[in-house]
Amino acid sequence: MTMSDALLARKPVDRILVDSAAEHGDGPPLKRSMGLGHLTALSIGASLGTGIFVILGEATPDAGPAVIVAFVLAAVTALFSALSYAEMAGTIPVSGSSYSYAYATIGEFFAWVCGWCLLLEYGVSIAAVAVGWGEYINELLSTLFDYQLPAAIAAPPGEGGVINVPAMVIVALACVILMGGAKESARLNTAMVILKVCVLVFFCAIAFTAFKAGNLSPFMPFGVSGVTTAAALVFFSYIGFDAASTAGNEAKNPRRDLPRAIILSLGIITVLYCLVALAAVGAMPWQQFGGTEASLAKVLTDVTRSTWPAVVLSIGAVIAIASVVLAVMYGQTRILYTMGKDGLVPRVFATVSPRTRVPVRNILIVGAIVALLAGLVPLGELANATSIGSLFAFALVNVGVIVLRNTRPDLERTFKTPLFPLIPALGVLFCVLLMFQMKAPTWIAFGLWTVVGLAVYFAYGYRNSRLRTDA
Ligand code: ALA
Repeated sequence: MTMSDALLARKPVDRILVDSAAEHGDGPPLKRSMGLGHLTALSIGASLGTGIFVILGEATPDAGPAVIVAFVLAAVTALFSALSYAEMAGTIPVSGSSYSYAYATIGEFFAWVCGWCLLLEYGVSIAAVAVGWGEYINELLSTLFDYQLPAAIAAPPGEGGVINVPAMVIVALACVILMGGAKESARLNTAMVILKVCVLVFFCAIAFTAFKAGNLSPFMPFGVSGVTTAAALVFFSYIGFDAASTAGNEAKNPRRDLPRAIILSLGIITVLYCLVALAAVGAMPWQQFGGTEASLAKVLTDVTRSTWPAVVLSIGAVIAIASVVLAVMYGQTRILYTMGKDGLVPRVFATVSPRTRVPVRNILIVGAIVALLAGLVPLGELANATSIGSLFAFALVNVGVIVLRNTRPDLERTFKTPLFPLIPALGVLFCVLLMFQMKAPTWIAFGLWTVVGLAVYFAYGYRNSRLRTDA
């Protein structure tokens, strides 16, 4: 086999399905315990976090009240890709998400690049989200007890501290929960998702009482360009809708439920985000956003003239962001589990504990690396590159839908993207357009990340790929 044949080798869909159920001497398969509710909560858990609690406030000064339109635009962009994810998840219902879809459609090399991008979307972003969680905890401590953790234990070196303990603690907690079992983790995640949705509904209920139509005018003070800039920013809040696609091997009825969970979760978060954005800019003049990380809390304090609603909101944010850490970490371990089965990363990632039926060692390794990243490394541009990495993976899924419809029209598809090939083609276009909204340093970080990924692939994955070694 020539090198280019090897790089473009596709893993046949039938083999992906057989392999995903097989044991390969790595212990038992994962246990199928998740229903539609758990899967939908997994995607909502992974998406609803810093985006709505923090980035809404940062994007409003760019777009004015039209930040609502920015949320709709970002939702439309996410929807194109979500439809493609839904089709792929119903056709290839395994835990590797877009990595597995790329392996089946455009070959091993692109699958690896996709998996490496998913490490940014999931692994690096958990570390960044955990750091944000630490900041919220500190703010809450300061509001409630007038106490702040000393900087030495609340920030990494280079940012005025020695180690970021709260960020490491939340990662460690997520790790312990995940080791307890998939069903147990899914239950806790579902409870946290219900709580965070309730907190946002509580926000809307209070903010709408102070709604003034006058606050919405002028609606678009910076024109269309302000809205598209804000849309690129708030797109971050939709990342995570794809998390259900990492549960293919643990869903009870993946072919039916994965597509539903992906679309349903995107629908729920879109409605919530638009309502929260409308309530927020209706209650407080848009010029007052942006000065603080906690704009939503400020809205509540201004409206009620008391501090307790802001405290409830901050507690909600702490729970919300904790559940992002849990859900995204779950996704990362399952993607690596699938890559481990394929031999592209060491097999230890694919070993399942016979007792809990989860990949315990995988969870420990991911937890340790993410905790070290969160605690000791100022992530800066690497965290910003999360959105580019996700958009690249989304674009590949859209391409995958087009390829697979042509190469395997015979496959059973429980969900089909409407208006094919227009929707996946628009999906690619929108992803690429949003990628080009990102700034140069973010692109440089993404470029360096990709170069490291290629080095790892040629040093390990290329030599150990089971597609060739078992052929
Ligand atoms: N969508 C996730 C958030 O907003 C990443 O926190």
